Amino acid sequence: MSLFRGFAAATILTATTAAGTGKRGAAYNNNNDYGDATFANMLSNYSQVTWGYDWGFPSYNLSSTFEFVPMLWGLPSGDDSSWTDAVQTAGTKNILGFNEPDLTYSGSANILPADAAQGYKTYMEPFNGTVRIGAPNILWNNYDSSSSGGDYSSRTWTSYFMGNCTDCHFDFACIHWYQDCDPGNGQSGADWFTSNVTDAYNTLNLPIWITEFQCYGDDTQQASFLGDVIPWLDSQEYVERYAYFGVFPDYLLNDAGNALSEAGQAYTSA
Ligand SMILES: *[C@@H]1O[C@H](CO)[C@@H](O)[C@H](O)[C@H]1NC(C)=O
Ligand SMILES: *[C@@H]1O[C@H](CO)[C@@H](O)[C@H](O)[C@H]1NC(C)=O
Ligand SMILES: *[C@@H]1O[C@H](CO)[C@@H](O)[C@H](O)[C@H]1NC(C)=O
Ligand SMILES: *[C@@H]1O[C@H](CO)[C@@H](O)[C@H](O)[C@H]1NC(C)=O
Ligand SMILES: *[C@@H]1O[C@H](CO)[C@@H](O)[C@H](O)[C@H]1NC(C)=O
Repeated sequence: MSLFRGFAAATILTATTAAGTGKRGAAYNNNNDYGDATFANMLSNYSQVTWGYDWGFPSYNLSSTFEFVPMLWGLPSGDDSSWTDAVQTAGTKNILGFNEPDLTYSGSANILPADAAQGYKTYMEPFNGTVRIGAPNILWNNYDSSSSGGDYSSRTWTSYFMGNCTDCHFDFACIHWYQDCDPGNGQSGADWFTSNVTDAYNTLNLPIWITEFQCYGDDTQQASFLGDVIPWLDSQEYVERYAYFGVFPDYLLNDAGNALSEAGQAYTSA
């Protein structure tokens, strides 16, 4: 119980506030001493946070106060009945596909656009109409570094993917964004972020989920960034959901992982 002692007081204060817009999510994993969703569940008393995902499935005992959204992280090597089971688990309303297939670093799904489209047709599209389907999760502000399969931007990757997936149905598009909180030279990380989200919507013409975003800076800078962008996100009709990176110690939690960080407090209030 000592794990939660630090934030019990904050919980009581926020429990009575309005339910929020239902857009805010918990991006978490089970890579911790508990091997489960303990960290994400620390947000379960904050009514503003309504859904969660862990870059995969299962949910590792995510609290039932959240909607769990399963993700097919990369291309399965063959028929994957566990994915089908995850999609067909009672309560699943939305599904996410490929994590950063547009990038080539070791933690990305790194898939050629044509192969990713084939993967969608095989593993995602069969569920059209039964759950809502998200387009691949791509790094929207990757302009010029080499992208999966060639020396082009993530936006180009997306246009190739869409070009190969013309018979596909997407209920929403998914983007990531990472940049400095305070870039200097009179620039604003918050402005960069909101203009990228707007640009994604204008380009893709689909409701937008920001499944990962973070500004680089200290805890206070990140809290300030969140204070700036959350009201904007909540008031854009086309922004359906967003998840700040992430519910981990030293991110939305403090170093010890037993209370919210400043950024975490900003994320769970307002
Ligand atoms: C959430 O609130 C309930 C009721 O007040 C409390 O029993 C529980 O410990 C709280 N959970 C967390 C993670 O703080
Ligand atoms: C989830 O909860 C069930 C029932 O309490 C337990 O048996 C199981 O080990 C838990 N799984 C994880 C990953 O914590
Ligand atoms: C997907 O399902 C929707 C209904 O939810 C339907 O209107 C649409 O035609 C379907 N698209 C494809 C490609 O099957
Ligand atoms: C399909 O994807 C490939 C790369 O994988 C690309 O070269 C091609 O132009 C794409 N086709 C369309 C119609 O976008
Ligand atoms: C997107 O973010 C980048 C910083 O990563 C910034 O340079 C760019 O101006 C932003 N705006 C748009 C419309 O993409």
